[in-house]
Amino acid sequence: GNNVSIGLLGLGVVGSGVIKLIENHQEELVHQLGCGVNVKSVLIRDTDKARNVQLDQTFLTTNPDDILNDPEIDVIIEVMGGIDEAFQHILKAFSAKKHVVTANKDLVALHGPELQEAASRNKCDFYYEASVAGGIPILRGITDGLSSDRIQQVMGIVNGTTNYILTKMNTEGSTYEAALQKAKELGFAEADPTADVEGLDAARKMVILSRLAFSTDVALEDVEINGIKNIDLEDLQYGDTLGYTMKLIGFANCHDQQVEVNVQPTFLAKSHPLADVKNEYNAVYVYGEAVGETMFYGPGAGSMPTASAVMSDVITVIKNIRLGINGRQSLAPRFKKELKTPDQ
Ligand code: HSE
Repeated sequence: GNNVSIGLLGLGVVGSGVIKLIENHQEELVHQLGCGVNVKSVLIRDTDKARNVQLDQTFLTTNPDDILNDPEIDVIIEVMGGIDEAFQHILKAFSAKKHVVTANKDLVALHGPELQEAASRNKCDFYYEASVAGGIPILRGITDGLSSDRIQQVMGIVNGTTNYILTKMNTEGSTYEAALQKAKELGFAEADPTADVEGLDAARKMVILSRLAFSTDVALEDVEINGIKNIDLEDLQYGDTLGYTMKLIGFANCHDQQVEVNVQPTFLAKSHPLADVKNEYNAVYVYGEAVGETMFYGPGAGSMPTASAVMSDVITVIKNIRLGINGRQSLAPRFKKELKTPDQ
């Protein structure tokens, strides 16, 4: 069939990864979809910036309307980051009946339900697998893989920067500052790493996970958040000698139909499956009533892992286009649970 044309918003670490993945895995895409996938236009901020990706056939623009008003484009990939502009672009895309895939955790945590509503109203798809835990297919794991189960607990190491810092402190006796500096150099940390070390980035991801695991409208304000800024190297090493590893853990529990979400530095027994997750890796432990313990493990950030998650969503959207079922993916969510806030 005819190639599917994509509009890409943003050409940073993830956007460049998407371009490379589409080029390198075109065979897989054609085989699964019966057509090629082609990035028609890319929204960039700076036309003069050097890019290390092949963009021969691709139109670069600084005007979002060139993409959002292009009738040939069916799918928008938003990887520009930030909240307000990205939010407006996505709403406009839905109004123009375009499907949207995003990696934007800040945006989905803040405006996810609103965006989902706008998508459904316009019979469009809205997918955001890459927004949580990079390349790990955890959102699908929860919404599809465990769809028949009653999820009771989600525990996640969902921030690579803090896990890297804690690992270096624990195993190499590195100071907090030195380890943070290294995480910045390696490119895991956010532009402003405050969101990483204060636990906000992890909390945003736990909000997204909790909504899907428990079908309840968790907001960021509902989450009690403690970061790793005040962790003492000596405490951490003392815990280690007693058989415990310090991790920044996002907890989402459902007991008696009530959901509680928090993020806090936690001593885990070394026998816990999450205790072994080192450096910038992420992992999400999900406990379901029927399945018992499950673990999802992998790279939580980075260009190609995140691009892999983005493109898995694009494939789903294109399959839905073929089947004519876009906008119906959340036909009936799980049972709605009540939410217990920290001060209740
Ligand atoms: N700053 C994030 C992290 C990047 O360290 O996990 C991936 O969301």
